[in-house]
Amino acid sequence: MSTVVERLAELSQIGRGENGIDRPLASRGDRLARELFAKWARSHKYALTQDRVGNVFARRSGARDDARPILVGSHLDTVPTGGAYDGAYGVVAAICALDELEANETRTEHPIEAVAWAGEEGARFPLGCLGSSVFTGACDLEKTLSLADADGTTLRDALASRETGLLDRVPIREETRLSAYLEIHIEQGPVLEREGVPLGIVTSIAGQRRYRVAVQGTSGHAGTVPMARRGDALCAASEIILDLERAAIAIGETVATVGMFVVEPNAANVIPGRARFSVDIRSPDDAKIDAVESALRESAGRANARRRVSASIERLEARAPAPMDSKLRAAIARAITAMGERAIDLPSGAGHDAMCLCRIAPTAMIFVPSIGGKSHVAEEETAPEDLERGVAALTASIVEVDKFVI
Ligand code: GLV
Ligand code: MN
Ligand code: MN
Repeated sequence: MSTVVERLAELSQIGRGENGIDRPLASRGDRLARELFAKWARSHKYALTQDRVGNVFARRSGARDDARPILVGSHLDTVPTGGAYDGAYGVVAAICALDELEANETRTEHPIEAVAWAGEEGARFPLGCLGSSVFTGACDLEKTLSLADADGTTLRDALASRETGLLDRVPIREETRLSAYLEIHIEQGPVLEREGVPLGIVTSIAGQRRYRVAVQGTSGHAGTVPMARRGDALCAASEIILDLERAAIAIGETVATVGMFVVEPNAANVIPGRARFSVDIRSPDDAKIDAVESALRESAGRANARRRVSASIERLEARAPAPMDSKLRAAIARAITAMGERAIDLPSGAGHDAMCLCRIAPTAMIFVPSIGGKSHVAEEETAPEDLERGVAALTASIVEVDKFVI
């Protein structure tokens, strides 16, 4: 087994349960995954640093050690019952790329740093791309540390804990300047497999917004309150959700998802008094996200007028579509062609830390195929030869990018 495959297999044991992998930010599993990353880095004497939000960096020196580093990485956290490759592959591939540079005694001008971003999925705290948002200055550190999970635990407390928090004996890093960012990721969709091409170069990442919707109705006895007098929060929420689906279909080139739903008091003989749910809207075109958001707000307004409820919508996060850097994309294409491999250009519907990094530095992404296009599920898989080819493409791309970035 090659190193990338072995390392991914080792990492996939952390947080593994019956239905998939659970490795939310600042959990025991997340801490163990960061420790494993640190172990791999130490085995090659890469200099380790971490920042206050839990991002971890492993640095291989460059010829010009005062030059800003090229960062290469992805994330170690997973969605609930997630797979072994989303994020994890990009982190493992980054460390393997450093090792390849080391093995081939390749001198780069810039320091190259493998990075494991904290909490990309936003599965525990209500913010996606959490670590890269703080690193790039898009989110304030103190405000982010004050975010609380569903149980009321703040990120600050979770990161202060010995079990789940920052790594021991790893210095805190203040420096955030970089010369470029590269990320390799599984495609999470069917295009590369369908086209029979082993590598993809990402053109842009779809824009994305997340919301929290709360519908306050009136609880009551399921047997005695007449239908005409009810303020059923679940019925109102259902109507809003179906309106959202219809809007996304009608507007086109957008996707809208309600992935989290809580109904209270959640009893068979009590009229639901409160419903809360998440909304995730994405599109390559921000105007289309605006249109779906408007439809969501109109639907909530109608529910309030007609259904004796009070529905409120809180926007948690908004990321504009993120074009990837054309010079970096061309450099990746050159590197892949020189390897004698084929790649196609394709957009990303999934979100990535690269969306944040591209606001402060030239950024590009490489995709490898996902078997059956599956992702965010336990069955997520990429063939070993595709994983290995991806590491080779990433390593060659680093060398190419190192030649011209400032
Ligand atoms: C992360 O995988 C996302 O696209 O939400
Ligand atoms: Mn990911
Ligand atoms: Mn993901």
